[in-house]
Amino acid sequence: MKKILITGGAGFIGSHVVRRFVKKYPQYHIFNLDVLTYAGNLENISDIENELNYTFIKGDIVDAAFVDSLFSEHQFEGVVHLAAESHVDRSITDPMAFVKTNVIGTMNLLNAFKTIWKGDFDGKRFYHISTDEVYGSLGAEGLFTETTAYDPNSPYSASKASSDHFVRAYGETYGMPYVLTNCSNNYGPNHFPEKLIPLFINNIINNKPLPVYGDGNYTRDWLFVEDHAVAIDLVFHDGENHETYNIGGFNEWKNIDLVKLLCRIMDEKLGRVNGTSVKLITYVKDRPGHDLRYAIDASKINTTLGWKPSVTFEQGLEKTIDWYLSNEEWLHNVTSGDYQNYYDKQYN
Ligand code: NAD
Ligand code: DAU
Repeated sequence: MKKILITGGAGFIGSHVVRRFVKKYPQYHIFNLDVLTYAGNLENISDIENELNYTFIKGDIVDAAFVDSLFSEHQFEGVVHLAAESHVDRSITDPMAFVKTNVIGTMNLLNAFKTIWKGDFDGKRFYHISTDEVYGSLGAEGLFTETTAYDPNSPYSASKASSDHFVRAYGETYGMPYVLTNCSNNYGPNHFPEKLIPLFINNIINNKPLPVYGDGNYTRDWLFVEDHAVAIDLVFHDGENHETYNIGGFNEWKNIDLVKLLCRIMDEKLGRVNGTSVKLITYVKDRPGHDLRYAIDASKINTTLGWKPSVTFEQGLEKTIDWYLSNEEWLHNVTSGDYQNYYDKQYN
């Protein structure tokens, strides 16, 4: 059985990727390495925990000795690396946590992979999952392509940019076979309610204010998480070595328009009078260094690998809202404890 390591598989996107790989590829043994930060949650993947081709390992990618011993024990032929600190607002208050996990953690994985294969990389692959935020901010026009110059503005995006550069450098210097993808904003089930869509769904359910940063005229390109997992599967198996692919939703929304749409659907779902939730919108202090607009040109992955999103935004949003409404216990569990401290610091 081929041993594949997926990092960050208890998080939002990682859990969808782990599930897909475990179910679709019985010929792989999937090892899910996750330290279980506040964002990691084994409930996200409890449905596959007893599968024979699946093993969960609790561990920290920042711990080089641990990572080295894990690779030497299992000789992973493929790595799909998602583990990261992922929230821009947290990177503003604690940048070093992002340097540690996103830069040092990625370096530890690259070094361990390089050490076990000693230059004999035939049939091996290191897949680094990154973000469109490394490209910085767009004005009103244009799209990010794979050749757009890196121009990160937040500690989060700077740490991801740094890790991307190291992955490429290891490809050039040591001949390490890598693929890299830069994806736009994901949404869907299991999204931690610190990010815009799940935070606002949770606040609407609880009749709490909806804190829109600045004037709300910031634009993001939204992709349903399962479509991202499909793209990751495709790139891992069919992507060209040493290539980068942009992944996006072909789906730009200004925050304020998205929030109004969310309010309308939530009113319907909750049986509230239309116009109830929109009254919860509260404009608050802007995020420092807030990127105005992200939008992806995903034509390379579309034309070379035949990938495109399978659901419309309306379909994806409805699936997402339905998931949160029928998983109140999940929502309750992740919003008790430390979540309240984070929320008070961030918003009050
Ligand atoms: P997430 O915050 O939901 O999950 C991150 C996971 O990594 C968690 O399970 C956490 O416990 C784990 N982790 C964190 N530090 C670790 C460490 N030191 N060692 C081991 N595990 C650790 O993140 P996400 O939104 O699922 O993002 C996954 C990846 O995709 C990240 O690399 C992120 O940069 C990238 N990405 C995210 C989006 C998005 O919209 N969410 C878009 C593009 C790219
Ligand atoms: O573009 C990909 C990136 O998308 C990923 O790499 C990141 O991991 C992911 O967190 C996401 O980053 P954003 O900063 O775009 O996502 P977030 O959900 O935090 O914010 C989306 C937009 O909504 C952004 O313009 C800020 C705004 N916002 C966010 C929050 C949490 C608000 O107006 N109010 C809020 O309370």
